[in-house]
Amino acid sequence: MAFLAHPALRCPLDGLPLTQTQSSLVCAEGHVFDIGKPGYANLLGAQDKRSRAPGDSRDMVAARSAFLGARFYEPIADALMTQVTTRLDTGITVVDAGCGDGYYLDWIQNAAPVPVNTIGFDISKWAVQRAAKRCDGTWLVASNRRVPLADSSADVLLDMFGFPDYGSFLRILVPGGALIRITPAANHLIELRKIIYPALKEQPERASYPALLGIESHNRITYQVDLQSDDIANLLLMTPHMFRAPKDGLIKATSLAELSVTIDVAIDVLTLTT
Ligand SMILES: C[S@@+](CC[C@H](N)C(=O)[O-])C[C@H]1O[C@@H](n2cnc3c(N)ncnc32)[C@H](O)[C@@H]1O
Ligand SMILES: [Zn+2]
Repeated sequence: MAFLAHPALRCPLDGLPLTQTQSSLVCAEGHVFDIGKPGYANLLGAQDKRSRAPGDSRDMVAARSAFLGARFYEPIADALMTQVTTRLDTGITVVDAGCGDGYYLDWIQNAAPVPVNTIGFDISKWAVQRAAKRCDGTWLVASNRRVPLADSSADVLLDMFGFPDYGSFLRILVPGGALIRITPAANHLIELRKIIYPALKEQPERASYPALLGIESHNRITYQVDLQSDDIANLLLMTPHMFRAPKDGLIKATSLAELSVTIDVAIDVLTLTT
């Protein structure tokens, strides 16, 4: 799909504006970043990488994509859209930090009655490649720790099951702009967790936030889904459970033909105080 060069793009090396020349992005200091097929730019500096292939692996991204494609998180996308809709205005910019395969920005583009600029970035190139195949937009391989965007450039910032960096988030939000976060709540996937872990850890009920982010609303989305064995396998692979859980627990879970699980997430809306 087409890569859209947003005016807020900044060089990850010196913070200067980036402009598009054919198939690359260039800053005034001459730093050049290729726009790869299918329409994304890699703005991740070596200093932002803690491994050669940071973020979710190709298999994890494929599993998440398949799980989302099976529509289990549609109520979450709907709840997100309800929040985004109250802030929609022609030409606003919605940024998804840790955008995965672009599921939520694609949803917003399709559901919004007015044109919205979308910028999605993820530290995993596998995720961004999938996102850029899904729809037009400004898709970037980049890290939350050093977001290659101008100060005050996001009207709405999404953090969906991500790894927030509040220093970056405060910097890129416009004053009065909204950070929308979706995080797992206490009973998320509890039936699956009871099968794979010998004992369940208490989960913190509420996240805490920097003082500059005022809590506008805090809601829970809770419902039940019926999973078949392929869905269970995808769910295990797309979450940290595959790497954390004891082997016998994983064997029990992967041998299930079906399982009904609780989806339980928190949706927090925070605004940057001016
Ligand atoms: C649990 S997945 C959620 C993906 C997507 N938001 C969704 O809900 O479908 C977390 C994502 O964060 C990405 N990630 C991990 N560390 C990151 C960082 N420092 N900056 C940006 N993305 C990061 C991973 O590659 C992965 O795609
Ligand atoms: Zn530069």
